[in-house]
Amino acid sequence: MQPKIGNLGLKNRFLLAPMLEPNDIAFRLLCKKAGCGLTYTGMISPLSKRKLDLDDRPALQLFGNSARGIRSFMKKYDSKVSLWDFNLGCPSKLSKKIGHGAFMHENLIEIERILRVMRESTVKPVTIKIRKSKIALKIARMAERIGVDAIGIHARTISQGYSGEVDYDFALEVKGAVAIPVIFSGNVDETNVERILRDFDFVFVGRAAIGDPAIFSRLLKGRESVECKRLSDFGEYLKLAKKYGLFFRQIKYQAMNFTKGMRQAKRIRKRLVGVENIEEIEKIGEIFA
Ligand SMILES: Cc1cc2nc3c(=O)[nH]c(=O)nc-3n(C[C@H](O)[C@H](O)[C@H](O)COP(=O)(O)O)c2cc1C
Repeated sequence: MQPKIGNLGLKNRFLLAPMLEPNDIAFRLLCKKAGCGLTYTGMISPLSKRKLDLDDRPALQLFGNSARGIRSFMKKYDSKVSLWDFNLGCPSKLSKKIGHGAFMHENLIEIERILRVMRESTVKPVTIKIRKSKIALKIARMAERIGVDAIGIHARTISQGYSGEVDYDFALEVKGAVAIPVIFSGNVDETNVERILRDFDFVFVGRAAIGDPAIFSRLLKGRESVECKRLSDFGEYLKLAKKYGLFFRQIKYQAMNFTKGMRQAKRIRKRLVGVENIEEIEKIGEIFA
Protein backbone atom coordinates (compact mmCIF):
# COMPACT_ATOMS: atom_id res chain seq x y z
CA MET A 1 0.00 0.00 0.00
CA GLN A 2 1.29 3.46 -0.84
CA PRO A 3 2.30 5.42 2.26
CA LYS A 4 0.12 8.51 2.69
CA ILE A 5 -0.05 11.65 4.77
CA GLY A 6 -3.58 12.97 4.41
CA ASN A 7 -4.33 13.11 0.68
CA LEU A 8 -0.65 13.07 -0.26
CA GLY A 9 0.76 9.77 -1.52
CA LEU A 10 4.51 9.30 -0.92
CA LYS A 11 6.86 6.85 -2.56
CA ASN A 12 8.40 5.72 0.72
CA ARG A 13 8.47 6.33 4.47
CA PHE A 14 11.87 8.08 4.70
CA LEU A 15 11.46 11.83 5.21
CA LEU A 16 14.15 14.48 5.53
CA ALA A 17 13.71 16.03 9.00
CA PRO A 18 13.19 19.78 9.16
CA MET A 19 16.60 21.32 9.85
CA LEU A 20 17.18 25.03 9.62
CA GLU A 21 20.79 25.31 8.52
CA PRO A 22 21.38 22.17 6.41
CA ASN A 23 18.12 22.06 4.44
CA ASP A 24 18.81 24.56 1.68
CA ILE A 25 17.28 23.95 -1.76
CA ALA A 26 20.42 22.32 -3.22
CA PHE A 27 20.68 19.88 -0.32
CA ARG A 28 16.97 19.08 -0.40
CA LEU A 29 17.11 18.37 -4.13
CA LEU A 30 20.02 15.96 -3.57
CA CYS A 31 18.07 14.17 -0.84
CA LYS A 32 15.15 13.85 -3.22
CA LYS A 33 17.41 12.54 -5.94
CA ALA A 34 18.72 9.94 -3.50
CA GLY A 35 15.14 8.76 -2.98
CA CYS A 36 13.87 10.70 0.04
CA GLY A 37 10.06 10.38 0.18
CA LEU A 38 9.49 14.01 1.23
CA THR A 39 11.82 16.85 2.11
CA TYR A 40 10.99 19.29 4.90
CA THR A 41 12.34 22.83 4.99
CA GLY A 42 13.77 24.16 8.23
CA MET A 43 11.48 26.44 10.18
CA ILE A 44 10.43 29.58 8.35
CA SER A 45 8.75 32.64 9.81
CA PRO A 46 5.60 33.61 7.93
CA LEU A 47 6.75 37.19 8.38
CA SER A 48 10.02 36.54 6.54
CA LYS A 49 10.55 38.35 3.25
CA ARG A 50 13.35 36.01 2.23
CA LYS A 51 13.26 34.54 -1.29
CA LEU A 52 12.11 30.93 -1.14
CA ASP A 53 13.23 28.21 -3.55
CA LEU A 54 10.68 25.43 -3.51
CA ASP A 55 11.50 23.43 -6.66
CA ASP A 56 11.56 20.21 -4.64
CA ARG A 57 7.92 20.84 -3.61
CA PRO A 58 8.82 20.42 0.04
CA ALA A 59 6.87 20.21 3.22
CA LEU A 60 7.21 23.78 4.46
CA GLN A 61 7.61 24.22 8.19
CA LEU A 62 6.23 27.40 9.78
CA PHE A 63 6.69 28.72 13.29
CA GLY A 64 5.47 31.65 15.34
CA ASN A 65 2.13 32.91 16.57
CA SER A 66 1.06 35.35 13.90
CA ALA A 67 -2.19 33.82 12.68
CA ARG A 68 -2.62 36.61 10.16
CA GLY A 69 0.92 36.18 8.88
CA ILE A 70 0.43 32.42 8.57
CA ARG A 71 -2.81 32.82 6.66
CA SER A 72 -1.39 35.18 4.05
CA PHE A 73 1.90 33.27 3.76
CA MET A 74 0.03 30.02 3.12
CA LYS A 75 -2.15 31.67 0.50
CA LYS A 76 0.95 32.92 -1.28
CA TYR A 77 2.86 29.63 -1.34
CA ASP A 78 0.18 26.95 -1.16
CA SER A 79 0.52 25.88 -4.79
CA LYS A 80 4.29 25.42 -4.39
CA VAL A 81 4.46 23.02 -1.44
CA SER A 82 3.45 19.41 -0.83
CA LEU A 83 2.27 20.00 2.70
CA TRP A 84 2.47 22.41 5.62
CA ASP A 85 4.10 21.73 8.97
CA PHE A 86 4.06 23.68 12.22
CA ASN A 87 7.07 23.73 14.54
CA LEU A 88 6.32 22.91 18.16
CA GLY A 89 9.76 21.53 18.93
CA CYS A 90 12.42 24.23 18.68
CA PRO A 91 14.26 24.49 22.02
CA SER A 92 16.39 27.55 21.20
CA LYS A 93 16.88 30.53 23.48
CA LEU A 94 15.17 32.75 20.94
CA SER A 95 12.10 30.48 20.90
CA LYS A 96 12.07 30.67 24.68
CA LYS A 97 12.18 34.45 24.63
CA ILE A 98 9.25 34.77 22.27
CA GLY A 99 7.33 31.67 23.37
CA HIS A 100 7.59 29.79 20.05
CA GLY A 101 8.58 26.27 19.09
CA ALA A 102 8.67 23.85 22.01
CA PHE A 103 7.88 26.71 24.42
CA MET A 104 4.42 26.98 22.87
CA HIS A 105 3.57 23.70 24.62
CA GLU A 106 2.72 25.88 27.61
CA ASN A 107 -0.09 27.46 25.63
CA LEU A 108 -2.60 24.95 24.31
CA ILE A 109 -5.11 27.65 23.37
CA GLU A 110 -2.56 29.43 21.21
CA ILE A 111 -1.62 26.17 19.48
CA GLU A 112 -5.26 25.42 18.77
CA ARG A 113 -5.77 28.89 17.29
CA ILE A 114 -2.81 28.52 14.93
CA LEU A 115 -3.63 24.97 13.87
CA ARG A 116 -7.20 25.94 13.07
CA VAL A 117 -5.93 28.76 10.88
CA MET A 118 -3.58 26.38 9.10
CA ARG A 119 -6.32 23.82 8.60
CA GLU A 120 -8.66 26.44 7.15
CA SER A 121 -5.99 27.84 4.85
CA THR A 122 -5.28 24.75 2.74
CA VAL A 123 -6.65 21.48 1.43
CA LYS A 124 -3.11 20.10 1.48
CA PRO A 125 -1.98 17.99 4.42
CA VAL A 126 -0.94 19.73 7.62
CA THR A 127 1.54 18.16 10.05
CA ILE A 128 3.03 19.25 13.37
CA LYS A 129 6.34 18.42 14.98
CA ILE A 130 6.37 18.20 18.75
CA ARG A 131 8.79 17.33 21.52
CA LYS A 132 8.35 15.28 24.65
CA SER A 133 6.48 17.40 27.21
CA LYS A 134 3.78 17.09 29.83
CA ILE A 135 1.12 18.09 27.36
CA ALA A 136 2.51 16.57 24.16
CA LEU A 137 -0.16 13.85 24.16
CA LYS A 138 -2.89 16.45 24.63
CA ILE A 139 -1.46 18.45 21.74
CA ALA A 140 -1.37 15.37 19.51
CA ARG A 141 -5.00 14.49 20.26
CA MET A 142 -6.16 18.07 19.81
CA ALA A 143 -4.29 18.34 16.51
CA GLU A 144 -5.99 15.19 15.26
CA ARG A 145 -9.41 16.60 16.20
CA ILE A 146 -8.68 19.80 14.31
CA GLY A 147 -7.80 17.84 11.17
CA VAL A 148 -4.00 17.73 11.29
CA ASP A 149 -2.85 14.80 9.12
CA ALA A 150 0.27 13.53 10.91
CA ILE A 151 2.30 14.12 14.07
CA GLY A 152 6.09 14.26 14.10
CA ILE A 153 7.56 13.38 17.50
CA HIS A 154 11.11 14.08 18.63
CA ALA A 155 10.97 12.34 21.99
CA ARG A 156 13.49 14.49 23.83
CA THR A 157 12.57 17.24 26.28
CA ILE A 158 13.45 20.90 25.80
CA SER A 159 16.28 20.65 28.31
CA GLN A 160 17.79 17.67 26.50
CA GLY A 161 18.13 19.73 23.32
CA TYR A 162 19.55 17.35 20.72
CA SER A 163 21.51 15.00 22.95
CA GLY A 164 20.73 12.35 25.50
CA GLU A 165 18.43 9.42 25.19
CA VAL A 166 15.39 9.54 22.93
CA ASP A 167 12.39 8.31 24.94
CA TYR A 168 11.17 5.61 22.59
CA ASP A 169 8.34 4.59 24.91
CA PHE A 170 7.06 8.15 24.97
CA ALA A 171 7.03 8.22 21.17
CA LEU A 172 5.04 4.96 21.29
CA GLU A 173 2.57 6.64 23.63
CA VAL A 174 2.06 9.38 21.05
CA LYS A 175 1.54 6.73 18.39
CA GLY A 176 -1.03 5.03 20.61
CA ALA A 177 -2.85 8.30 21.32
CA VAL A 178 -3.84 9.09 17.73
CA ALA A 179 -5.08 7.28 14.64
CA ILE A 180 -3.28 9.57 12.15
CA PRO A 181 0.27 8.69 11.01
CA VAL A 182 3.14 9.38 13.40
CA ILE A 183 6.61 10.33 12.18
CA PHE A 184 9.43 9.27 14.50
CA SER A 185 12.41 11.59 14.95
CA GLY A 186 15.61 11.06 16.92
CA ASN A 187 18.89 9.41 15.94
CA VAL A 188 17.38 7.54 13.00
CA ASP A 189 20.08 5.84 10.94
CA GLU A 190 20.81 2.66 9.02
CA THR A 191 21.25 0.60 12.18
CA ASN A 192 17.84 1.19 13.77
CA VAL A 193 15.47 2.19 10.98
CA GLU A 194 13.98 -1.29 10.44
CA ARG A 195 12.79 -1.52 14.00
CA ILE A 196 11.46 2.03 14.09
CA LEU A 197 9.45 1.47 10.92
CA ARG A 198 7.78 -1.53 12.54
CA ASP A 199 6.39 0.79 15.24
CA PHE A 200 5.88 4.06 13.37
CA ASP A 201 4.44 5.16 10.03
CA PHE A 202 7.32 7.36 8.87
CA VAL A 203 10.81 8.34 10.00
CA PHE A 204 12.52 11.71 9.96
CA VAL A 205 16.17 11.33 9.00
CA GLY A 206 17.96 14.26 10.61
CA ARG A 207 21.64 14.57 11.47
CA ALA A 208 22.47 11.30 9.72
CA ALA A 209 21.65 13.04 6.42
CA ILE A 210 23.77 16.15 7.01
CA GLY A 211 26.58 16.14 4.46
CA ASP A 212 25.37 12.74 3.30
CA PRO A 213 22.14 12.93 1.27
CA ALA A 214 23.02 9.52 -0.20
CA ILE A 215 21.87 8.00 3.08
CA PHE A 216 18.40 7.87 1.54
CA SER A 217 19.56 5.61 -1.27
CA ARG A 218 21.31 3.37 1.25
CA LEU A 219 18.23 3.25 3.46
CA LEU A 220 16.24 2.24 0.40
CA LYS A 221 18.65 -0.25 -1.10
CA GLY A 222 21.00 -1.11 1.71
CA ARG A 223 24.19 -0.84 -0.37
CA GLU A 224 26.58 1.69 -1.98
CA SER A 225 29.89 3.00 -0.72
CA VAL A 226 29.35 5.91 1.64
CA GLU A 227 32.58 7.72 0.99
CA CYS A 228 32.49 7.59 -2.80
CA LYS A 229 28.96 8.83 -2.97
CA ARG A 230 29.66 11.66 -0.58
CA LEU A 231 32.53 12.94 -2.68
CA SER A 232 30.61 13.11 -5.92
CA ASP A 233 27.61 14.57 -4.13
CA PHE A 234 29.46 17.72 -3.20
CA GLY A 235 30.15 18.43 -6.86
CA GLU A 236 26.44 18.15 -7.52
CA TYR A 237 25.66 20.22 -4.46
CA LEU A 238 27.93 22.99 -5.67
CA LYS A 239 26.36 23.03 -9.13
CA LEU A 240 22.90 23.37 -7.62
CA ALA A 241 24.04 25.90 -5.04
CA LYS A 242 25.39 28.10 -7.82
CA LYS A 243 22.24 27.68 -9.87
CA TYR A 244 20.12 28.88 -6.97
CA GLY A 245 22.55 31.62 -5.97
CA LEU A 246 23.11 30.36 -2.44
CA PHE A 247 25.35 32.45 -0.22
CA PHE A 248 29.04 31.63 -0.03
CA ARG A 249 28.89 31.09 3.73
CA GLN A 250 26.14 28.49 3.25
CA ILE A 251 28.20 26.68 0.60
CA LYS A 252 31.25 26.69 2.86
CA TYR A 253 29.15 25.32 5.72
CA GLN A 254 27.94 22.48 3.48
CA ALA A 255 31.48 21.80 2.23
CA MET A 256 32.39 21.24 5.87
CA ASN A 257 29.41 18.92 6.29
CA PHE A 258 30.10 16.90 3.15
CA THR A 259 33.77 16.36 4.01
CA LYS A 260 33.16 15.21 7.56
CA GLY A 261 33.68 11.47 7.32
CA MET A 262 36.21 11.58 4.45
CA ARG A 263 39.66 10.10 4.47
CA GLN A 264 42.00 13.11 4.65
CA ALA A 265 39.09 15.01 6.25
CA LYS A 266 41.27 16.84 8.73
CA ARG A 267 43.63 18.19 6.12
CA ILE A 268 40.90 19.15 3.65
CA ARG A 269 38.76 20.83 6.29
CA LYS A 270 41.74 22.76 7.56
CA ARG A 271 42.09 24.21 4.06
CA LEU A 272 38.34 24.88 3.87
CA VAL A 273 38.43 26.98 7.03
CA GLY A 274 40.44 29.67 5.30
CA VAL A 275 38.57 29.90 1.98
CA GLU A 276 36.90 33.17 1.15
CA ASN A 277 35.01 32.51 -2.09
CA ILE A 278 33.52 29.71 -4.17
CA GLU A 279 36.49 29.58 -6.54
CA GLU A 280 38.77 28.77 -3.64
CA ILE A 281 36.48 25.92 -2.62
CA GLU A 282 36.58 24.59 -6.19
CA LYS A 283 40.35 24.63 -6.08
CA ILE A 284 40.31 22.06 -3.29
CA GLY A 285 39.89 19.34 -5.87
CA GLU A 286 39.90 16.50 -3.36
CA ILE A 287 36.39 17.52 -2.35
CA PHE A 288 35.09 16.27 -5.68
CA ALA A 289 37.67 13.59 -6.47
C1 LIG B 1 21.17 21.65 12.64
C2 LIG B 1 19.76 21.29 13.05
C3 LIG B 1 18.71 22.15 12.74
C4 LIG B 1 17.39 21.82 13.10
N1 LIG B 1 16.37 22.64 12.75
C5 LIG B 1 15.07 22.25 13.01
C6 LIG B 1 13.98 23.03 12.53
O1 LIG B 1 14.14 24.07 11.86
N2 LIG B 1 12.73 22.58 12.81
C7 LIG B 1 12.49 21.42 13.53
O2 LIG B 1 11.34 21.05 13.75
N3 LIG B 1 13.52 20.67 13.98
C8 LIG B 1 14.79 21.05 13.73
N4 LIG B 1 15.82 20.25 14.12
C9 LIG B 1 15.51 18.96 14.82
C10 LIG B 1 15.47 17.79 13.82
O3 LIG B 1 14.39 17.90 12.94
C11 LIG B 1 15.37 16.45 14.57
O4 LIG B 1 14.12 16.37 15.23
C12 LIG B 1 16.47 16.25 15.62
O5 LIG B 1 17.74 16.63 15.09
C13 LIG B 1 16.55 14.79 16.06
O6 LIG B 1 16.77 13.94 14.97
P1 LIG B 1 18.24 13.37 14.57
O7 LIG B 1 18.78 12.75 15.83
O8 LIG B 1 17.91 12.38 13.49
O9 LIG B 1 19.05 14.52 14.12
C14 LIG B 1 17.14 20.60 13.81
C15 LIG B 1 18.21 19.77 14.11
C16 LIG B 1 19.50 20.08 13.74
C17 LIG B 1 20.61 19.13 14.09
